[in-house]
Amino acid sequence: MRSKPLRVGSVGAGFVARFQLIAMKQVRGMELTGVTAPKGAPELAALSAKLGVGDATVYDSVAELVKNVDCVAIYAPNYARVAIMEEIAAAVKSGAALRGVICEKPLGRTVAEARRLVELAASWNLRTAYFENQVFMKPLQVQLAQLEPVQKQMGPFSLTRSAEEHGGPHEAWFWDPTRQGGGVLCDMGCHSIAAGWYALTPIGKGTTFLQPQSVNAEIALLKWGQSPWRDTLLRNRGVDYRKTPAEDFATGMITYKNPDTGQKVKSQFTNSWMFDKQGLRLFMDGMGPGYAFEVNTLVSPLNIFIGDVAAEALKDAESALEKATATRGLLAVQHNEADLYGYTDENADACRAFTAGCDGMLPWSYGLEVARLVMAAYLSAERRQVIDLTDPEVLAELETFVPLVQQGRGAELLY
Ligand SMILES: NC(=O)c1ccc[n+]([C@@H]2O[C@H](COP(=O)([O-])OP(=O)(O)OC[C@H]3O[C@@H](n4cnc5c(N)ncnc54)[C@H](O)[C@@H]3O)[C@@H](O)[C@H]2O)c1
Repeated sequence: MRSKPLRVGSVGAGFVARFQLIAMKQVRGMELTGVTAPKGAPELAALSAKLGVGDATVYDSVAELVKNVDCVAIYAPNYARVAIMEEIAAAVKSGAALRGVICEKPLGRTVAEARRLVELAASWNLRTAYFENQVFMKPLQVQLAQLEPVQKQMGPFSLTRSAEEHGGPHEAWFWDPTRQGGGVLCDMGCHSIAAGWYALTPIGKGTTFLQPQSVNAEIALLKWGQSPWRDTLLRNRGVDYRKTPAEDFATGMITYKNPDTGQKVKSQFTNSWMFDKQGLRLFMDGMGPGYAFEVNTLVSPLNIFIGDVAAEALKDAESALEKATATRGLLAVQHNEADLYGYTDENADACRAFTAGCDGMLPWSYGLEVARLVMAAYLSAERRQVIDLTDPEVLAELETFVPLVQQGRGAELLY
């Protein structure tokens, strides 16, 4: 007998909620039955009906939503996370029978925020799934499966590199470091750090098996602090990068230790909001003894050419690719971005896990570990030092650390 579909409620109805809806369409066993958001909720419900993902009721509050679904997905901006989770916890305390909670990256803007989320979920015995889509990307998973026998014979990877880059985010709040939590390191560094850590991990070991030893990172403002770009930002997004800038470039190296062998291995990450190419690029590669892999999402099996005259008729560049910057010429087109970027498989994982009463493959405690690495990268960039993650004093400092950029003091560092 088939079990009933998991009823999902979305808190937030913006960019990522729409992406996740397209992903859910490709997953059996879950439907969108509720949504609450200050903006976009009726439109998301209409899209859900159109795609056949579920008849979603629009609720006025998180509390009402929680009473009527099996699983809540937090797809709201970073600055709203803790308050939303407190509302979810209050609703569960009042008797709502919730099975699980999903949270988009980043779990928190600081270690303290991420820890608060983990503690709230634990105190109400809620199953959790941290949505880091890149870990679920089929190209990443397939290379691991393909290389499994080779890795067992030759030994695991010793270096991975991962990057997520595009020309800048789609909503004003992402650009405001005090609301988003920083610049590109907070926004996309969490993806690349997680993807690099995961790809580096020996096959068959848990996601936190490799022990972080040190972080060495740099952040910079390479494009959006310059004229005329910062004027464009002020005009279009209402954020003044003269006064409260955020980094548009970040890079760093994290060293991990394999606790079984003592071997030190490294993962390098690079992120930018000043990548003036076709659109979003996810790049990952890895080197093992005698073998390697490489993923580049700008290489598509589908290329389309649109000349100048024909381009006049095309309105939406993003129908080709997320964050696409061009409507003409030779375009890279990804025909199923929700699947390529891992959204379908993270939904399938959460559905399977919550239906079975378990945490997802990446529980919130994992999101907390990633938040710690992101904060260590900011600390390293501020101090211009390698941060020792084996030092208990450093770990204690990271518990309450708030980066200068997040405090609105990025100008002290970036100019
Ligand atoms: N995995 C990815 O690649 C990826 C991509 C984009 C965004 N995200 C993450 O998803 C989250 C949302 O980003 P987005 O791009 O959808 O943002 P968005 O601005 O496009 O949409 C945000 C939505 O949340 C709603 N909202 C705002 N405040 C709220 C509150 N207090 N309570 C409930 N809803 C509220 C807004 O009305 C809107 O519907 C962010 O945390 C972001 O980091 C992840």
